[in-house]
Amino acid sequence: MAKSQLPKDFLWGAATSSYQIEGAVKEGGRLPSIWDKFCYEPGRIEDGTNGDEACDHYHRWEADLDLMKSLNLKAYRFSIAWPRVMPKGTGAINPDGVKFYNNLIDGLLKRGIEPWVTLYHWDLPLALDEHGGWLNREVVDQFTAYAREMVKLFGDRVKHWITHNEPWCVSHLGYRTGEHAPGLKDSRKAYIAAHHVLMSHGKAVPAMREVHKDLHIGITLNLCPAYPASGSTIDAEATKKFDGEFNRWYLDPVFKGQYPEDMLPFASKDCGPQGMDFVKPGDTAMMNVATDFFGINYYSRAVIRGDEHAPGQLPRTLSQSEEVTDMGWEISPKGLEDVLVRVQNDYHPQKIYVTENGCAYADGPDAKGSIADQRRLTYLADHFKAAENAIARGAKLAGFFVWSLFDNFEWAFGYKKRFGIVWVDYETQERIPKSSALWYANVIKNHDITPPRD
Ligand code: FCB
Repeated sequence: MAKSQLPKDFLWGAATSSYQIEGAVKEGGRLPSIWDKFCYEPGRIEDGTNGDEACDHYHRWEADLDLMKSLNLKAYRFSIAWPRVMPKGTGAINPDGVKFYNNLIDGLLKRGIEPWVTLYHWDLPLALDEHGGWLNREVVDQFTAYAREMVKLFGDRVKHWITHNEPWCVSHLGYRTGEHAPGLKDSRKAYIAAHHVLMSHGKAVPAMREVHKDLHIGITLNLCPAYPASGSTIDAEATKKFDGEFNRWYLDPVFKGQYPEDMLPFASKDCGPQGMDFVKPGDTAMMNVATDFFGINYYSRAVIRGDEHAPGQLPRTLSQSEEVTDMGWEISPKGLEDVLVRVQNDYHPQKIYVTENGCAYADGPDAKGSIADQRRLTYLADHFKAAENAIARGAKLAGFFVWSLFDNFEWAFGYKKRFGIVWVDYETQERIPKSSALWYANVIKNHDITPPRD
């Protein structure tokens, strides 16, 4: 059987985030985050749930580590809950929170699994939001201080760090559409939040390196390759604009220290009469810091149709194929291949990791208790193949983290959308590896990405 052409030392992992799995939101000195508040606002979460208990990982971490080991994971990407370790966002460190992550990190290392830490996966301490959160320029220094403290506490053992997860989601979903916490609907605020998130990345990276010189630090962006629906000029222009707003608005500052020139007039208009007055000299230059790797979260592509009657809009056609996941997202492994190659060619990162890729399907246990999630297995196999193709086309891709290790709290969708390779029974907190997890364990062990025949 053909083994994978992926490099022998390709890093296979799985990812989660704090608010989506930990639970124990009121335990061990943790204070609320913006998500704790948001979930309790009526109508915010589709099934009316919250992260209060989630996967109860805070109590079950040890068994969860054994499970990771049994799946042969080489790396585990998780996030630190800022309000667990620094409950008010600034100042005092919470020893119980530190103990939890120390246990987790030591437990991973003991099992030969590399810890990959994301510093910010959306659970901003509520105390900071009460003073403006990402809208307050002071957050840049607050995040930097938090990042420095985390490296002081864990950097002797954690060597891979991701500053931010998906700034587009933080800003666009949090401040423009209001689908995520803090739930505002104000496009100017979305630009301000994005600006401060990107500045905080630029400021934190050198501060982290001052503490430990041997760290590998990067940032993770969610990227969505855009394709025009036709060869028309209007579709081409709309595609360029979509790409500018979704991808280049974040890629350009991180890699070039500037916002994309062609998008500035749109952004400025979106910001209303004051324009982008929050951008001060030197701000964008500081967003471009040397990093060791670049993280890409990839789920789907976009096919764009321009609308001559609504030139200001960002149109995005629906899926081009029948094949969508439970999120309604079109399945497009080719999109992953293209986006990896494009990032390599246009931005020249040292190394790339797919820090998230996966799919929501509700398949649950059969009468015997096994979970045949064939669609997830196929999805992953096709995306692994796409990763292999991208490497053959020159992308310096060094690893792949499946989203997600567990079914978990899927933000505004609650628990209805199941992304896990491991099933979680939310009544009993039982974990059951799905077929995809068992297959993935073999991919890692045998270095063979061929899916089983039906
Ligand atoms: C990404 C998030 C992750 C999860 C997946 C499905 O945008 O980073 O937490 O919700 O989508």
